Amino acid sequence: MKRELAKDVFWVGKIDWELKMIHGSEYSTDRGTSYNSYLVRGDKTALIDTVWGRFDAEFVDNLEAEFGLSSIDLVVANHGETDHSGALPELLRRRPGLPVYCTSNAAKILKGHYHEDWNFRIVKTGDSVDLGKGRRLVFVEAPMLHWPDSMFTYLEGAAILFPNDAFGQHYASEHLFNDLVDQGELWQECAKYYANILTPFSPLVAKKIDEVLAMKLPVEIIAPSHGVIWRKDPLQIVKRYAAWAADWQEDRVAVIYDTMWDGTRRLAEAMARGVAEASPSTTVVVHNVAKSDKNDVITEVFRSRAFLLGSPTVNRGILNPVAGLLEEMRGLKFKGKKAAAFGCYGWSGESNALISARLAEGGFELVDEGFKSPWEPDAAALEAAAEYGRAFARKLGPWKGEARAV
Ligand code: FEO
Repeated sequence: MKRELAKDVFWVGKIDWELKMIHGSEYSTDRGTSYNSYLVRGDKTALIDTVWGRFDAEFVDNLEAEFGLSSIDLVVANHGETDHSGALPELLRRRPGLPVYCTSNAAKILKGHYHEDWNFRIVKTGDSVDLGKGRRLVFVEAPMLHWPDSMFTYLEGAAILFPNDAFGQHYASEHLFNDLVDQGELWQECAKYYANILTPFSPLVAKKIDEVLAMKLPVEIIAPSHGVIWRKDPLQIVKRYAAWAADWQEDRVAVIYDTMWDGTRRLAEAMARGVAEASPSTTVVVHNVAKSDKNDVITEVFRSRAFLLGSPTVNRGILNPVAGLLEEMRGLKFKGKKAAAFGCYGWSGESNALISARLAEGGFELVDEGFKSPWEPDAAALEAAAEYGRAFARKLGPWKGEARAV
């Protein structure tokens, strides 16, 4: 159902309460999500983005009931990914010929997805559409934030930025605005979203923020395509993105592992104790990556200044959840983080070298050769693991940054 966020600017999207995974099974959405679509009225009426195709009929029926499809003069497709473009085929089936404003890359992506040659109007940064009544849509290309086609749309006359995926969260709420929701939940979802989706594009995030701020546009509202709308201090999320894009770290160390018969778990816990003893100010977190939510573990890596990653040796290799995490982290291109490997072994003991090699390939700075321990650790081995944790913390040195959290 429509909700007015400013005069003649309406949220017309879909709240998806039941979604537990998005991008297939790549990203957990414990708090659901929303697909935000907006309708802007001047003399002309523009629809900005749509919803996932699963909800296409419901979405178009609502538009018909609340505004009349014939009142829509144009569509803006800020991004071609199917969670925002999925209702375009149904809308354009019922309103054939409606102009679709998008980047040239978005037109290619939309053709690739839907195999339709719609009435595309290709736009570049600075192009605009006058809606009348003092309102103008101005387009700003944002390539690789997070796809090649991504674009921001700015509404002159109401000072609203529609940045699509940027500044969003997978967070279902009947409260439409940032000031109405639980702030702890909101920031947890924002950080998870940035860590798991935007980290590889941090240099581009920083550049785009500088570019948009240099335009000195007034911004009253930032209306992303997922989650709540930033109306209270909207630039707070922009400033937070700028900080996150600058290779974010906190005084935090993560100890991450998988284990077969608890030996590597016991090493992990002893090491965590050692880090905490040597650096009492540091927040130490411990995760079994096979049992914790993978996206939460990645968020911990994003937040940490350093981490320890452990697996026992099995079949001269490492356990699958640790291998999967290493592959995911390689793609995310974290920068400026230190790491080391650890694990139990029986007879061959390759896991440390394998993990260390993959960590180096992922751009992490290896603190040392890591720690390994044969068979089931006894009291002496656990003390050696704790001492390794103390030494690891000492090698990191005292935290020189500010006390902060996402
Ligand atoms: Fe929310 Fe890139 O789609």
